[in-house]
Amino acid sequence: MRGYFGIGVQGISKAANLGAVMRTAHAFGASFVYTVDAHHKALKIDATDTSRTHKHMPHYQWDNIGDMRLPKGCELVGVELCDRAVELPSFRHPRAAAYVLGPEQGSLSPDMQALCSHIVKIPTKFCINVSLAAALTLYDRTLCLGGYPDRPPRPGGPDLAAMEKWRALRARDN
Ligand SMILES: C[S@@+](CC[C@H](N)C(=O)[O-])C[C@H]1O[C@@H](n2cnc3c(N)ncnc32)[C@H](O)[C@@H]1O
Repeated sequence: MRGYFGIGVQGISKAANLGAVMRTAHAFGASFVYTVDAHHKALKIDATDTSRTHKHMPHYQWDNIGDMRLPKGCELVGVELCDRAVELPSFRHPRAAAYVLGPEQGSLSPDMQALCSHIVKIPTKFCINVSLAAALTLYDRTLCLGGYPDRPPRPGGPDLAAMEKWRALRARDN
């Protein structure tokens, strides 16, 4: 997959949720994870992130929005149910992106939303758990930028020729 991404959460208060976000980020190949204004209890994630993400990539712990330092050219993408948000299945993910999700109780702050180049929403009837929202966002990124072949018109997997083409493209990009 070309490009890179990081993912973070603002104002998170539960270690179980932060651990699940970090483990998911690790599994999907994140380059970094971050927290902004996390509750100190939320940072005790050893029991909840069994993949030990912090041993494999940086975890930036910023106290507030003013402390945030994203890499140059990295676009901040908010994940939030709000009027400005575009629906995730219609969104083109930036190659270099930092996703940010909101706290268990509340939403991304207006200041954080103002910093975002884009805001996306997952088409659900109501708000889902923050770690599930993170997983769906990263899965959508994988679908969008993973270089997978088009789905076949009939039920089942792609034909072998298409798979070979996909593998060759993937090998070339890695
Ligand atoms: C549990 S929700 C926050 C609670 C919610 N604002 C409420 O009080 O109804 C935690 C975070 O998950 C993310 N989230 C949950 N469902 C979402 C959705 N359908 N689309 C986009 N983000 C979502 C957002 O980042 C949100 O701030």
